[in-house]
Amino acid sequence: MRIGVPREIYPGEKRVATVPDVVSKLIKLGFDVVVEGGAGELADLSDGAYVQAGATIAPSAAELWRASDIVFKVRAPTASEVALMHAGQTLIGFLWPAQNPDLMQQLAAQKVTALSIDALPRTLSRAQKMDALTSMAGVSGYRAVVEAANAFGRFFNGQITAAGKVPPAKVFIAGAGVAGLAAIGAAASLGAIVRANDTRAEVADQVVSLGGEFVKVDYEEEGSGGGGYAKVMSEGFQAAQREMYAQQAKECDIIITTALIPGKPAPKLITAEMVQSMKPGSVIVDMAAEQGGNCELTEPGKAVVKHGVTIVGYTDLASRMARQSSTLYGTNLFRLTEELCKTKDGIIDVNMADDAIRGLTVIKDGEITWPAPPLVVAPKPAPKPTAAVTEKKSGHGHGSSGPMPAKTLAMVFGVGALAFWAIGAYAPAAFLGHFTVFVLACFIGNMVVWNVTPALHTPLMSVTNAISSIIVIGALVQIVPPEAGTNGRPDQLIQWLAFAGIVLTAINMFGGFAVTRRMLDMFRK
Ligand code: NAI
Repeated sequence: MRIGVPREIYPGEKRVATVPDVVSKLIKLGFDVVVEGGAGELADLSDGAYVQAGATIAPSAAELWRASDIVFKVRAPTASEVALMHAGQTLIGFLWPAQNPDLMQQLAAQKVTALSIDALPRTLSRAQKMDALTSMAGVSGYRAVVEAANAFGRFFNGQITAAGKVPPAKVFIAGAGVAGLAAIGAAASLGAIVRANDTRAEVADQVVSLGGEFVKVDYEEEGSGGGGYAKVMSEGFQAAQREMYAQQAKECDIIITTALIPGKPAPKLITAEMVQSMKPGSVIVDMAAEQGGNCELTEPGKAVVKHGVTIVGYTDLASRMARQSSTLYGTNLFRLTEELCKTKDGIIDVNMADDAIRGLTVIKDGEITWPAPPLVVAPKPAPKPTAAVTEKKSGHGHGSSGPMPAKTLAMVFGVGALAFWAIGAYAPAAFLGHFTVFVLACFIGNMVVWNVTPALHTPLMSVTNAISSIIVIGALVQIVPPEAGTNGRPDQLIQWLAFAGIVLTAINMFGGFAVTRRMLDMFRK
């Protein structure tokens, strides 16, 4: 089959749906690739680079759409582009079916199959590699910080120079989803003091791990609306949140807002009074501008100055880093193509039995199949009984799992003690000594390992590995030449074996500790 990549015609769009590196991978999967002349120009990708990767160049859009079996696009096609489509063709791109019902009808009338990458069920872990919403949000979050830095007249990091002391910039991020987290990481790496807030309390750890501080709203309410997304909060919460945001507006130099709720207009978090209370020269980057904006004074698509504050409402942040976004988007589409063409023979199969493919297939052979039925999520394992319940159960001797009932425990100890007495009565004294140490070691080892949280089992294994190198003592004893007059010279072979033992255990010991340190560092970040 032939994959076609047209030039994006949406005004100002610089991205392209595939890049030369991806073209060669698509060809390896068995596809032919045709790219419209100039398609990658605004993303600094020349026609020559595509040709070198194995693509052919179509001289016009009409020629490209005619010659393609599958069309990769970034933006949804315009009516004139849909008119160029033919029955049996497959279209893949950001189609936003909920927002574009007319487009859906037009595509269905053309008897095509349409895969809307924004409709991918993101919570499926298998779908992450195809998640273009996440990769575009990551680029946008980073770019929002770059735009803020561009409009801000000061350093992000604090400095002490001969010319004076410069305080670090204070950045507040509203909404710590994918874009917000990318912005936190970028602003923190530039040296700013970063604070963030989200209605979903579970993101607090992620904020901290990226170098930010999570600022809580002083109001108890669960903010998750399912699938990792937010819900509309109660009036009480919103009032408490406004109070906190008003305080942050007074203190911070830069505010980056990313707060969105699927299917709803963006929540208004930054009021005109808050903007007025900010220091002159402050910056707001409103990443929710396209959905109405998180700031009351945002003008979508523009950067404006109001009350001495620059408010950036660009709606094309990902497109402003066209080469980077095109590479990530192209890779997402390549991963999707791999899923569609498991046979690697250049022929796709839109398998509606596959949850990920079903989710993003919005039209199948001219029939609208959007929205997909909700994903059947495997039932969560039943919660573990609380300590009190467990205690009660064990008291009555019920339940097959959980701690051992008291009676059984007493019996195990009784049998163990008897066995120990029997061994003590008949076995040699030296054996009993070693055996006691062995039993105690098993007991202590068991207690230690069982009380370590499972996430730390891997570093625990590596440190245990390092400690086990205590056997090096045996090798050291063997390598030392015996004193004259005792046994004579030791066997050269034993000395060499001892030397090899020391070298190998040293690798084990130092390597084990080094690996443990690196692993623990990962948890500290
Ligand atoms: P989004 O773009 O819809 O929303 C951005 C952020 O704004 C969210 O974190 C949301 O909680 C927050 N928000 C909404 N209303 C707010 C308010 N009034 N005040 C403050 N914050 C508010 O979401 P995005 O970034 O596309 O994804 C959100 C989450 O979805 C991720 O953090 C993740 O948990 C989940 N997700 C899961 C994936 C997976 O399991 N593979 C993949 C992608 C996302």
